[in-house]
Amino acid sequence: MSAAAAAAAYFSHPNIFPPATGSTGGIRTLVYLKPYTSQRKPFQVVCCSSSRPQYIPNHIPNPNYVRIFDTTLRDGEQSPGATMTTKEKLDIARKLAQLGVDIIEAGFPASSDADLEAVKLIAIEIGNPNVNNKQEEGGGHVPVICGLARCNKNDIDKAWEAVKHAKYPRIHTFIATSEIHLVYKLKMTKQQVVEKASSMVAYARSLGCNDVEFSPEDAGRSEREFLYEILGEVIKAGATTLNIPDTVGYNWPREFGQLIADIKANTPGIENVIISTHCQNDLGLSTANTLEVVMALKCKGELLGGLYSGINTRHIVMTSKMVEEYSGLLVQPHKAIVGANAFAHESGIHQDGMLKNRSTYEIMSPEDIGLFRSNESGLTLGKLSGRHALKSKLFELGYDIDGRELNDLFWRFKSVAEMKKVITDDDLVALVSDEVFQPQVVWKFGDVQVTCGTLGLSTATVKLIDVDGKEHIACSTGAGPVDAAYKAVDLIVKVPVKLLEYSMSAVTAGIDAIASTRVVIDSENNHTSTHYTGEKISRTYSGTGASMDIVISSVRAYVGALNKMLGLRKQSTNGSA
Ligand code: KIV
Repeated sequence: MSAAAAAAAYFSHPNIFPPATGSTGGIRTLVYLKPYTSQRKPFQVVCCSSSRPQYIPNHIPNPNYVRIFDTTLRDGEQSPGATMTTKEKLDIARKLAQLGVDIIEAGFPASSDADLEAVKLIAIEIGNPNVNNKQEEGGGHVPVICGLARCNKNDIDKAWEAVKHAKYPRIHTFIATSEIHLVYKLKMTKQQVVEKASSMVAYARSLGCNDVEFSPEDAGRSEREFLYEILGEVIKAGATTLNIPDTVGYNWPREFGQLIADIKANTPGIENVIISTHCQNDLGLSTANTLEVVMALKCKGELLGGLYSGINTRHIVMTSKMVEEYSGLLVQPHKAIVGANAFAHESGIHQDGMLKNRSTYEIMSPEDIGLFRSNESGLTLGKLSGRHALKSKLFELGYDIDGRELNDLFWRFKSVAEMKKVITDDDLVALVSDEVFQPQVVWKFGDVQVTCGTLGLSTATVKLIDVDGKEHIACSTGAGPVDAAYKAVDLIVKVPVKLLEYSMSAVTAGIDAIASTRVVIDSENNHTSTHYTGEKISRTYSGTGASMDIVISSVRAYVGALNKMLGLRKQSTNGSA
């Protein structure tokens, strides 16, 4: 591999969650900016017109190309509260393919039967050509589907069972290499670890998998010489990508860069494989250490010698929103690129500069990531607006919604519009969250009626509808109207759950604001999975709801979380999606 290829490969494994990654579908250039106003110029002309090179596991034919590896569905999904159903994972995988990520790490198949099934489904549906039209929009890009496995035969067998259905299947196997992990966790000698790693890489290859990634876990704290040795041995055994994780987020950017440079200079056979990175955020340095956030490449790729990725950045916003909704992990407002404040300018000096020339304060435009400024679209929605206006507005906000989802959303929108004069963008986002990004229905919200106040106990009557369409009604008292309503729901659903988190916010100012609720629940007899550290994790489930009525919003969120939990429980008992 040339020096430039190694540099490109170096960036090939960003660990971004929620994903701030994207892809150009391999067709166009890295930077696509439509001429938007005549004022905008200087920052938009970073352009390298290249397509996505052919996928060869251990080689990137174009030395400037940076592969993007997304681990939202594996490392991300194992975050507390971020549990996703198979359908949600499939939706995200589809979106990632559209976004153009090169490799989707779809899960850790040995962690639970449900995860194995989800990875398998993604391999079948997303990891093959022509299976869905949306991918075709991305230029027919077919991503590599990867499954994680510890260095043992059982994990590797399960990973292969799941990913082998993809056109480009990959097994990612790992074992720790730092002294501290060898002594306290693995209780193995260095020689035993090298032997285990190389024999398991060879085992993965022997199954017929020609794309095997190996990670020396905790590389950031591992002895250099030992790293060179083990990496050299796994290359001999058939590894095609070497991923270097800073598992505990301990390295400084310069230190991490030096680690990669040293590995590149000293590992025998390194020129025959791809080097990739995986940084964690314990000291808030994962992005700084990884360097390769897609928009940084887009803005500064030329300064980096023409590096580019295959990401269609216009899908970034929607992908991020989808991950936010399904995982229940909210994006902080000041998050780079996708945070709510990323393109907000409140100070007078900034506003003045923006009015004169937008490049004074913006190094990228919102449209680049699929975000359109609402005040420039000219579309204001109200009760007379039709489906088409709603669809266009949603599209401007980054949501590509049609069919039944658009129809359901339209009726929700109408009912809110009857009560509110103007529907703001934030109102719409809350409705989309409540109507579209919901788990498969086990229990459907019907009605709720409450009485509350200082004159007596709060009481609630709740109606839920089961999958067969049968209505179930229960009444309960409680400390307040939400407590009473949740107790009534519990009487119907009859599954003991614990409410871990409850939060509500008004989406906009004013007495007629939509209330958005988020809950996280836990249950006895919970679905568990194995974390890659070997620890058993008891999953927790999030739900969101929105309504102008705070009790309805609360019940919707609670029922959403219950549906997610019950759906996953059904999956693990059936062992299928
Ligand atoms: O952080 C880490 O070390 C990992 C490995 C499994 C790659 O996630």
